[in-house]
Amino acid sequence: MNFYTRKWVRPEDLNANGSLFGGSLLRWIDEEAAIYAIIQLGNHRVVTKLISEIDFQASAREGDLIEMGLIATQFGRTSLSMKARVRNMITRKTILSIEKIVFVGVDEDGTPVPHGYTTITYDRDRMPHPQP
Ligand SMILES: CC(C)(COP(=O)(O)OP(=O)(O)OC[C@H]1O[C@@H](n2cnc3c(N)ncnc32)[C@H](O)[C@@H]1OP(=O)(O)O)[C@@H](O)C(=O)NCCC(=O)NCCS
Repeated sequence: MNFYTRKWVRPEDLNANGSLFGGSLLRWIDEEAAIYAIIQLGNHRVVTKLISEIDFQASAREGDLIEMGLIATQFGRTSLSMKARVRNMITRKTILSIEKIVFVGVDEDGTPVPHGYTTITYDRDRMPHPQP
């Protein structure tokens, strides 16, 4: 699993208990997964189809540094399944894990489109090129 993005837990990300608000974390993970799916499927139009059980294992507090990791687990015909983990950068303790996130690549009408990929890329070689 590669840990791409780091976040600094700020006051606006806290819940009433003074710890990291789950909703903020989910927004960050959804965005991270969308970017990952765009790079893997070579399609700017990807939508969240499924987020499986979310296990909040530990909390984070203001000032903590956290990092988000993703790995593709299955390339379908139009979909990509991923696994996610968020951990504390210093202690490496797991804050959250999600067993399955599914994104689907769609066309301009929102219809699923086949992506043709079966393996992970660690480059940006599938990124769509702007039209001349
Ligand atoms: C994503 C969406 C286009 C899929 O439409 P659909 O009619 O289910 O399309 P399909 O049945 O052809 O399925 C498309 C892919 O999604 C997968 N899929 C569908 N339902 C699924 C589910 N419940 N769990 C996991 N994967 C699922 C299918 O297996 C298929 O993958 P594959 O082509 O790799 O085999 C449609 O459900 C949609 O627009 N959903 C809203 C997405 C959205 O707005 N997300 C943001 C959240 S607010």
